[in-house]
Amino acid sequence: MDDELKALELQCKDCCRCPLGKTRTNLVFGTGNAKAQIMFIGEGPGEQEDLQGLPFVGKSGKLLDMYLSLIDLDREKNVYIANMVKCRPPHNRDPKPEETELCLPYLRKQVKLIRPVIIVCLGRIAAQRLISPDFRVTKQHGEFFKKGEIYMMGTFHPAALLRDESKKKDALSDFQRLREKIEQLQINIY
Ligand code: URA
Repeated sequence: MDDELKALELQCKDCCRCPLGKTRTNLVFGTGNAKAQIMFIGEGPGEQEDLQGLPFVGKSGKLLDMYLSLIDLDREKNVYIANMVKCRPPHNRDPKPEETELCLPYLRKQVKLIRPVIIVCLGRIAAQRLISPDFRVTKQHGEFFKKGEIYMMGTFHPAALLRDESKKKDALSDFQRLREKIEQLQINIY
């Protein structure tokens, strides 16, 4: 399965389905444990991610790592982190809907290979495309939705928490809910 994930990554490296492939420095395929039962999905790579080829390594990533550590999760150990689009949108703009659609088959394949029990959508772009088009982060953050076999939850994007500290309390309670779900579903994170 690891080999299949590697093969998919190589396929993405050659991708020129949308213009982002031409302007990126590095592909940001995903990181973490390929056997993780918990997956986090962000929006798209920013500057640091593009330079390093890894998701959530800039300021937002540091904050995400802090929230993960509060509930005994660790990007190297028991989660897998990816994005809706695998190449950086210039000037950190939102990925365009057509870019997201063209990249989505790669993410779907990635999810199929990793087979997470829980997916956490980080921010509106992921939650509206993966949970429901009318998902409102401010209202529905922390709620679990079952889609097929997968439990899905949307929470604030870490960059939104950096912009507005008052949301951090709600984000913390979302991570606590996630922890409860992990226990309820008896997911082994150790
Ligand atoms: N924001 C995202 O949505 N993804 C990253 O990888 C980094 C910042």
